[in-house]
Amino acid sequence: MSNHFDLSGRVAVITGAARGIGLATAERLADAGADIAIVDMDEPAALAAAQSIEKRGKKAIACAIDLTDEHAVIDMTDEVCAKLGGYDILVCAAGIVGRNAFGWDTSVEEWRKVLDVNLTALWLCNREALRPMRKQNRGRIVNIASIAGKEGNPKLGPYSASKAGVIGMTKSLAKEVADTDIRINSVAPAVIQTPMLDQVSQETIDYMVSKIPVGRTGTTAEVAALVHYLASDECGFSTGACFDISGGRATY
Ligand SMILES: NC(=O)c1ccc[n+]([C@@H]2O[C@H](COP(=O)([O-])OP(=O)(O)OC[C@H]3O[C@@H](n4cnc5c(N)ncnc54)[C@H](O)[C@@H]3O)[C@@H](O)[C@H]2O)c1
Repeated sequence: MSNHFDLSGRVAVITGAARGIGLATAERLADAGADIAIVDMDEPAALAAAQSIEKRGKKAIACAIDLTDEHAVIDMTDEVCAKLGGYDILVCAAGIVGRNAFGWDTSVEEWRKVLDVNLTALWLCNREALRPMRKQNRGRIVNIASIAGKEGNPKLGPYSASKAGVIGMTKSLAKEVADTDIRINSVAPAVIQTPMLDQVSQETIDYMVSKIPVGRTGTTAEVAALVHYLASDECGFSTGACFDISGGRATY
């Protein structure tokens, strides 16, 4: 028996897969045998990512949509089923940080934007993925949260709140389908070296690294390896859980 978490014949949808954690996850799941839908609003980067997956010998499509558009998410779900012949795995990695600001300097628009992308759009992707998954009574969903959702990072209030929401929503939805072979878990990384860090001030990055006992940032490959397990059939008895990948920062 293989011990490589074989995903042959599976279709995996990965949001935010044009770069960073999403792209590393797409590459890892493709190498494990899955066909891939790259979902990202950055169309040129999404197309390039899909081409790079095809070069690895797997089918890939690029869906260039804004995930905050409900109808676009519904259509994307149908497109994946039609073009790739199924829908087995969803990994939600799309996200934004929002402006670094004290809570008292944050506008309602800034608050809503981050909550809309990081929480509402993620829930929407989960809701739509459950249409095909509930029909086949099987599926795996992995939602990328953040250590910020457990501990709260200063000057990242909307981001921290959105990620706490992802952890809670994941627990709730997971219980609703626990009597099927659908498993829904979240992952809480500490700071990982990706283009997202371009949106974060050096002061905030230094603060975050200073909190990590391992003393460094994580890599996208390390996150992809954890997601790979959670996306596999072998992940059968964990659901609604939040998996730590924080170099020892998390205290619970
Ligand atoms: N990098 C880190 O240190 C870190 C730490 C903890 C959690 N995370 C989380 O991991 C996930 C991936 O982070 P990353 O560092 O790879 O980010 P990234 O900025 O490198 O990539 C995010 C991708 O999401 C896409 N995206 C954003 N909003 C979208 C929308 N409305 N519709 C469609 N696509 C959209 C972007 O185009 C981009 O390609 C995020 O949810 C992030 O919050 C990252």
